Amino acid sequence: MQVLDQLLDQFNSELKDIHRVPDLLNLKSKYLGKQGPISEVMKGLKDATVEQKKEIGSKANILKNQIETILNTKMEELELKDINEALSKDKIDFSLTDSIRDLGLQAAGFHPVSIIQREIEDIFVSMGFEVLDGPHIEDEFHNFEALNIPDTHPARDMQDTFWFADKKHLLRTHTSTIQVRGMKERKPPFRFVGPGKVFRCERTDASHEMVFHQLEGMMVGENVSVGNLIYFMKTLLTEIFKKEVEVRLRPGFFPFVEPGFELDIKCLICGGKGCSVCKHVGWVELLPCGMVHPNVLKAGGIDPEKYNGFAFGLGLDRLVMMRYGIDDIRHIHGADLRFNSQFKSF
Ligand code: PHE
Repeated sequence: MQVLDQLLDQFNSELKDIHRVPDLLNLKSKYLGKQGPISEVMKGLKDATVEQKKEIGSKANILKNQIETILNTKMEELELKDINEALSKDKIDFSLTDSIRDLGLQAAGFHPVSIIQREIEDIFVSMGFEVLDGPHIEDEFHNFEALNIPDTHPARDMQDTFWFADKKHLLRTHTSTIQVRGMKERKPPFRFVGPGKVFRCERTDASHEMVFHQLEGMMVGENVSVGNLIYFMKTLLTEIFKKEVEVRLRPGFFPFVEPGFELDIKCLICGGKGCSVCKHVGWVELLPCGMVHPNVLKAGGIDPEKYNGFAFGLGLDRLVMMRYGIDDIRHIHGADLRFNSQFKSF
């Protein structure tokens, strides 16, 4: 009883010196914690008479409630103080009303490739994919060897490469390099996309550029199937074009996939009847893809006996051109502000 009688005064006098939330929490555990005086008194009641239990027990309970109420009030007070302090340091001035144009500046905007890229990244993130980046300057290993294209392989000629003078480094010819880096840095199961610029030493015309954009995709796990690949591609295309899209696979060759495919979509202009856009075939070739070759998994440090996966390489420039009705790929890097400023600005 004596302990309890003095406790409230003692608590109140300690409380006076407390000005921060962590100190208050310490005080709380000192008084109300398992090893605190009230718990000790309760433990001591084991051997007491029924009368004592009643008297002391109820006093202890009342005291506990009192202390709790005081603590809660103090906690609210301290938290409010913290918030007010943070707000006074972190002021944002909302009173600037002049718009960018009123200030005589030209409004900035996003390049159409960035717009499409961000949209596609968002779609893949919503399906559980990570977004990875990779360097533009690569070595032979990441651009070719690890992708099952050895030194003497004729497939090295499929892509005209910008080599550096040391003949070992190059400007990446595709974003498949990101597959190699992505595999090495994680353990299956995983799925990621990797967007970026790629470079090929090509003659330019309305549909060919030396610098263009791809978005690589890769999913590795146990029992990944062509059905999974088709599902993700269909979902992506339906989201981008905002309508149900039909797809079909044709065989295609890329050394890093087996089997490899070209994925076509039913022409969105004529619905498959045949028009000038689909060259009267009813289908438009959209992206190469396939099941990851076991040699590629091995190069990425993954056991091909246990895991498999799919990969695809989506060309972003073609999508931009289809979406905005752009008839010449050279506009994309033309740096002509009249072109660039037609797209979303803020
Ligand atoms: N990297 C290939 C290219 O640029 C595209 C591709 C990616 C094909 C992934 C299959 C799988 O041509």
